[in-house]
Amino acid sequence: MIRNAQRRMIAALVVIVILFGAGVAMADKKEKAKSEEDMGLRKESIYEEEKVKPGHGEYSKAEPGKSKKIERAFENSPPLIPHDLTGMLPIAETNNMCLNCHMPDVAKGLGATALPKSHFIDMETGKDLKGKLDGKRYNCMQCHVPQVNIPEPIKNRFKADFRSKKSRTSSNLIDSLNEGVKAE
Ligand code: HEC
Ligand code: HEC
Repeated sequence: MIRNAQRRMIAALVVIVILFGAGVAMADKKEKAKSEEDMGLRKESIYEEEKVKPGHGEYSKAEPGKSKKIERAFENSPPLIPHDLTGMLPIAETNNMCLNCHMPDVAKGLGATALPKSHFIDMETGKDLKGKLDGKRYNCMQCHVPQVNIPEPIKNRFKADFRSKKSRTSSNLIDSLNEGVKAE
């Protein structure tokens, strides 16, 4: 009999402790409620747009040949442009300055990364264009972008899984595109 009474006591105590804990947690939440200015990534009023300018940050001012290449975001990702682009844009039908330095025949001498083989193959048909750039690769800026120097509003915790040391700094998708695919 005494044992049962003790057990009931303990159970009641446990319930009290749990309820108390929940109460504290709720009170805590209330205290930390965000103000309206704090709700977005920018710390400004959400009702007023006029004075709010997005932070654009600075693009690299280092000219080609003097910039530092950026590690690939993940294996076979399009490399980010590390250098200044002043005077090179927009890319026009009759003028694509990127090719002046990145075509394989000139790139090495200029210290630029050569266009990979994947850009000289029609990826839809697999046809080797024999040194002719695939038209779908002409607008480099569609896939390659420069980077601004600006603090991240949210920390990016993505960690790329590189399978080799080389794949951190270079790529040629053609070498690995059909990995694991067995042709009949
Ligand atoms: C005057 C020559 C020149 C021009 C024009 C040029 N680049 Fe570059 N580019 C370089 C050099 C050199 C590098 C290597 C980094 C360095 O030394 O600054 C480079 C690096 C790059 C990289 C990084 C490659 C890697 O392996 O990480 C990309 C992407 C790139 N350029 C894209 C472009 C695009 C797109 C254009 C046209 C809008 C362009 N470049 C115009 C010379 C040039
Ligand atoms: C449709 C998207 C797309 C376009 C357009 C494109 N690229 Fe790429 N590029 C990629 C991707 C994806 C990679 C990485 C995979 C690979 O090697 O194919 C890459 C890789 C590269 C590399 C790295 C090669 C190496 O050895 O590591 C260079 C340099 C490059 N591109 C330059 C250019 C330039 C200059 C242009 C414009 C003439 C261009 N690309 C157009 C998607 C594109």
